[in-house]
Amino acid sequence: MDKIVVTGNGPLQGTIPIAGAKNACLTLMPATLLSEEPLTLTNAPRLSDIRTMTQLLQSLGCEVTSLQDGQVIAMSSHDITSHTAHYDIVRKMRASILVLGPMLARLGQAVVSLPGGCAIGARPVDLHLRALEALGAEMDLREGYVHATAPGGLKGGVIEFPFVSVGATENALMAATLAKGTTVIRNAAREPEIVDLAVCLRKMGARIEGEGTSTITIEGVDRLQGATHPVVTDRIELGTYMLAPAICGGEVECLGGRIDLVGAFCEKLHEAGVDVVETERGLKVRRRGDAIRAVDVTTEPFPGFPTDLQAQMMALLCTADGVSVLEEKIFENRFMHAPELVRMGARIDVHGGTATVTGVKTLKGAPVMATDLRASVSLILAGLAAEGETVVSRVYHLDRGYEHVVRKLSGVGAKIERVRDE
Ligand code: EPZ
Repeated sequence: MDKIVVTGNGPLQGTIPIAGAKNACLTLMPATLLSEEPLTLTNAPRLSDIRTMTQLLQSLGCEVTSLQDGQVIAMSSHDITSHTAHYDIVRKMRASILVLGPMLARLGQAVVSLPGGCAIGARPVDLHLRALEALGAEMDLREGYVHATAPGGLKGGVIEFPFVSVGATENALMAATLAKGTTVIRNAAREPEIVDLAVCLRKMGARIEGEGTSTITIEGVDRLQGATHPVVTDRIELGTYMLAPAICGGEVECLGGRIDLVGAFCEKLHEAGVDVVETERGLKVRRRGDAIRAVDVTTEPFPGFPTDLQAQMMALLCTADGVSVLEEKIFENRFMHAPELVRMGARIDVHGGTATVTGVKTLKGAPVMATDLRASVSLILAGLAAEGETVVSRVYHLDRGYEHVVRKLSGVGAKIERVRDE
């Protein structure tokens, strides 16, 4: 297993290109199942999760071709040869559940392995199943698989989510495009990835209103056409790299960054003493003075502060003047990066869903272990600012969501390399 070695090397300077969004691409790809005609995605990120979704779709009989070094994904689901998503693929990536809604809508049946939990929480899929039942589907859980049927096809209905779920909103939205009649999704997720999915589905002929708000209305149609669609910029990769000059000093321009994708995050950065300026190429970020100020953060569904930037923000606050309180409201176990940061000299007390961070003058490089995708990059950010060398192990977590991290950070002056572990 590879390791990443980071050595604190002072302020950063230059530009970082931001890729297409992993979490948009992972819901746009299953949308191919809704149509017999080709769906092509451009600006796709080159990530292991995308390769896993490719394998899953191919196992169902979809043709998926990666072009231009992975930036273009050409798909065709003209001939679906299987309606079963097997455990050995689904267990690798929870987003596999997103084939359930489209398959049910197109074929009237689907068998999908339950995804199982993951490091950051149990992450059940009950809201996905309830939503599809509201469209007339019948769910039968047997031997770890969901056996879903929709005899006579899905019918429009009202879906009322008790709390916001990104994936369940995506499954419901895709399924509703081919349901007979009108579907209303209430308390829908408002993430930019939902908006991107709705825009793509509309290009395919779907009739959707209200994406980006809490209520989405869909008029079902008989069939969807093909389309070509650019994947929206990855707001989590964007926020991650915006934190690099914040924690190290200097000035970095994130190419492709858009302020509307990271509104709440930018407000917190400003409060902490970091300036963000919109340029015609993206977002330019620099620390205002010498010190970062402590700020309190609570994670919420969009447009609130994103849970996927909580670990990275914690790394910044470890070096702030004062005490910051971070509340993780979305997942039940998303502070696994804290003990690793403590190994680098951070002062963090975790009680349940609350982490209290007392800033220290400097962090010290140390061997640390990545525990999940966003924790891995939080440790790299801390390493950029630490005195000495930090060695991050288990970087396969990183490869799921960040392409070319070493190249992108080296490009702005970071001292970072990837070494193969014997
Ligand atoms: C998506 O996961 C993202 N993944 C996650 O990003 C992100 O953290 C999350 O949304 C929240 O923004 C993808 O888009 C592929 P949820 P998802 O359904 O859809 C509970 C990353 O780092 N819940 O909004 O699985 C759930 O356990 C990943 O890129 C149920 O209880 O998240 C969680 O506590 C990590 N039952 C909360 O709701 C359900 O049926 C929000 O989950 C569904 C969810």
